[in-house]
Amino acid sequence: MRPIRKAVFPVAGMGTRFLPATKAMPKEMLPVVDKPLIQYAVEEAVKAGITELIFVTGRNKRAIEDHFDSAPELEADLESKNKIELLNTVRGILPANVNCIYIRQSAPLGLGHAVLTAAPIVGNEPFAVLLADDLIDADEPVLKQLIDAAIKYDGSVLGVQDVPREETKKYGICDAQRVDDRAARVTHMVEKPEPADAPSTLAVVGRYILEPEIFDHLRKTQRGAGNEIQLTDGIEALLRERAVYAYRYEGQRYDCGNKTGMFEATVALGRKYHGLEP
Ligand code: UTP
Repeated sequence: MRPIRKAVFPVAGMGTRFLPATKAMPKEMLPVVDKPLIQYAVEEAVKAGITELIFVTGRNKRAIEDHFDSAPELEADLESKNKIELLNTVRGILPANVNCIYIRQSAPLGLGHAVLTAAPIVGNEPFAVLLADDLIDADEPVLKQLIDAAIKYDGSVLGVQDVPREETKKYGICDAQRVDDRAARVTHMVEKPEPADAPSTLAVVGRYILEPEIFDHLRKTQRGAGNEIQLTDGIEALLRERAVYAYRYEGQRYDCGNKTGMFEATVALGRKYHGLEP
C-alpha cells in the first residue's frame, strides 16, 4: 500500500434533517460546542498524516472555504485587543504544510458521485474519505487506525461498527469473513437493507481508505438506494477484484447527521473537553 496523503471530504449533501439551519449553510459547518463538524474531521485527518484536503462542495461552499482560509481583519482585530489565545486558535486551524482543494459536485447525486467528483485530484493513489457528520471521539484518531490497517492488510479498509438489527436501514451493511479481533474481509455489501434482509449487523460508518480502482467502478455505478449513486455499490464491485476489509475501530461515534446524535455529541464533548454541565 502506497502512502496515503489525500483525504476527500464530501460536503455537498442537502442536510435536510437540519433545516432550517442548513438552508444557507452546509451541515458540516454546524458546531459541536465551539468547532464546526468539518473541523473535527479535518483535525483527525491531519493527525493521521494527511496533507491534501479535497472538499467536494455544493451550492453553499463559501462558509467552508472561508473557515479554512486566513481571516486578516479578524486576526488584526484580535491582535489589537491582545486576545492572543483566540488569535492562535484562529491562526492554528490548519498546519502550514496542509493544502485545501475545492471541487464542485455538479448536483447532489449521491455519495458515490461525490467521491467520483474528486477523481481528477486524487489521481492514481490510495486515499481516505471522511464524512464529517460522523464525529468519532478516540484516543488514537480513527483515520490513523484505518491507515495502519490498510498498510497491514494491504487493501481498502472501511470503518465499521456493530449496530442493532433494527437500524440496518440507515447504513451500508457488510458481510465479512473474520481475519482477527478487529478486521474482517468483506465478501458482500448492501446499502440500507431492511433488517430482515441484512446479511449482518456490521455497519459502515463515515471513514474509508480506498484504492483508486474504486473510480473505475463508480463510473459504471447506476443509481441505487434512494435513487442516488451509492459509494456502497461501487465498493461492492471493487471487492470482486481487490481485497476490501472491514475494521472495527476503537472510539465513540456520534451520528451528527441527525438531531439526537448532534445533541449527544454536544453534551458528551462539552463535559469531557470543556468542563460544561447542562
Ligand atoms: P447524507 O445522506 O447523510 O447527507 O450524506 P445529506 O443528504 O446532506 O443529509 P440529509 O439526509 O438531507 O439530512 C452523507 C455525506 O455525503 C455527502 C453529505 O454532505 C454528507 O457528508 N453527500 C451526500 C455529498 O457530498 N453529495 C451527495 O450527493 C450526497
